[in-house]
Amino acid sequence: MKVFVVSQSGREIIKGGLDLHDSATVSDLQEAIHGRRKKCYPSRQRLTLPLQPGSKERPVVLNPKKKIQEYCHENFNNLTVVLKDLGPQVSYRTLFFWEYLGPLVIYPIFYYFPVYQFLGFKGDRVIHPAQTYALYYWCFHYFKRIMETFFVHRFSHATSPLSNVFRNCAYYWTFGAYIAYYVNHPLYTPVSDLQMKVGFGLGLVCQISNFYCHLILKNLRCPDGGGGYQIPSGFLFNFVTCANYTTEIYQWLGFSIATQTVASYVFLVVAACIMTNWALAKHRRLKKLFDGKDGRPKYPRRWVILPPFL
Ligand SMILES: NC(=O)c1ccc[n+]([C@@H]2O[C@H](COP(=O)([O-])OP(=O)(O)OC[C@H]3O[C@@H](n4cnc5c(N)ncnc54)[C@H](OP(=O)(O)O)[C@@H]3O)[C@@H](O)[C@H]2O)c1
Repeated sequence: MKVFVVSQSGREIIKGGLDLHDSATVSDLQEAIHGRRKKCYPSRQRLTLPLQPGSKERPVVLNPKKKIQEYCHENFNNLTVVLKDLGPQVSYRTLFFWEYLGPLVIYPIFYYFPVYQFLGFKGDRVIHPAQTYALYYWCFHYFKRIMETFFVHRFSHATSPLSNVFRNCAYYWTFGAYIAYYVNHPLYTPVSDLQMKVGFGLGLVCQISNFYCHLILKNLRCPDGGGGYQIPSGFLFNFVTCANYTTEIYQWLGFSIATQTVASYVFLVVAACIMTNWALAKHRRLKKLFDGKDGRPKYPRRWVILPPFL
């Protein structure tokens, strides 16, 4: 069969098109495109079906696992596909590793090294227990996130644009330095012993719950890493769609109660806004996928992220 590859403007990208077996998959097509355009490896390619001029519909994205024939009209042995180059890609593991490594390394620098002397503060620095516990708590959190990235999560998307590494690192590394600076500051005033224990206690329970939520999500996918979404259930997922985000938000609340800096509360609010946005999209997606029609299960009534508000 013949496949013509065009750009979004309709310009032919591969002169004369590509000849493929009738049983070829989209993945074979991607390899063939890569063969002709060395820079454009498969995960950089977004292949869609062309839209009618003026159409407002979303284009159909070709699934690499499907046969090309499935996208052809009956009795036609050729297909035109639109290729978009997504730019350089990195694996999700690489993305997550670099974004979490920053805070894991930056935070202890403020605790262990004479950063404040270097910044012009005179006199001895007295380290309060809250600052030491905060260091352990922080490092445990990011170490856990790196371990989960490599040994727990089963991602459905192969890659992410390289530019996201810079964007996400800027977010995590800057907040890491901002919070570390204030919590470890020589003029830091610790909260009462009770408040510290309540904060870290709540935070720790939520971190462990968050880990358990990630194990539940992991078990929704088969080990070969194939994509697809299931209705999460069990533990907090029986009540909340994005229980992992809920526990993440509450564990940062625990940290903020225990350390009480404006910086940690700012991070809490920003992180909660980001996760709420994502949770709304995930909730919508699951409700759409499991609409109760044509034999599909119906998505149960649940909170999105923060009961009893949302
Ligand atoms: N502090 C912050 O600013 C912040 C922001 C975001 C996240 N986080 C933390 O990072 C963790 C991971 O974040 P994330 O956004 O990657 O979480 P996520 O999208 O909820 O997913 C975690 C993993 O579970 C999979 N998954 C989710 N729902 C599923 C379903 N219904 N069926 C099958 N698999 C499903 C995901 O697959 P896909 O690969 O298909 O998505 C992904 O591999 C969060 O739980 C949170 O602890 C922190």
